[in-house]
Amino acid sequence: MDITEIIQHQHDEQRRMFAYLEQWPRDDHDGLGAVWERLAIFLETHAEAEEKYFYPELLRLGTGGADAESVDEEVGDAVKDHNQIRQAVRAADDHEVGSDGWWTAVVDANVHNSDHMGEEERQDLADFRQQASLELRHEIALKFIRYQSQKAAGGIKPVDKDPQEFVADRGAGPETDSEKSAAEMAEEAAEGRPTTGTGETKTSSKEAAS
Ligand SMILES: [Fe+2]
Ligand SMILES: [Fe+2]
Repeated sequence: MDITEIIQHQHDEQRRMFAYLEQWPRDDHDGLGAVWERLAIFLETHAEAEEKYFYPELLRLGTGGADAESVDEEVGDAVKDHNQIRQAVRAADDHEVGSDGWWTAVVDANVHNSDHMGEEERQDLADFRQQASLELRHEIALKFIRYQSQKAAGGIKPVDKDPQEFVADRGAGPETDSEKSAAEMAEEAAEGRPTTGTGETKTSSKEAAS
């Protein structure tokens, strides 16, 4: 697994889901609402998982990809973009599904998200591919997918972040999320508890069967 590939695939899926809406019968408001709700949950679990697991490691290792001035600039800008996408998603909630106001908000979300994904792929993902080991990319992928899988069904409450505070708080800390989690995993392994999602899934399936 590779976090940069997973993010890129999810971007493609987001593009496809906006395309479903564009082609959907305009008078099928139930269908539009259902597809939009699923997309809105996906946008937020994707953005939040990036902020939790990908950007902190990018801040630690990155140097600024492509046309980014620096790693701080590319991450700060990405968080700012996430807030704009969140704002458009909130605006859609204020309107009846299928109304002009709703479509305006959905198109705004699409515009902000398209701009953001292009920049993220060109700067953040390219930077991380150049600087991070395959082992780290695998490790972050596990955490990212695990978090998204836990949150996908119900979604999560979108919370705007201050881009400058985000960069300052996560930029040069002595202990990264990854280091903290490595310590937690070592602790769990020492106690004989499962350390991955796979282990927990097995337990759940057994419980469900009994
Ligand atoms: Fe992304
Ligand atoms: Fe993003």
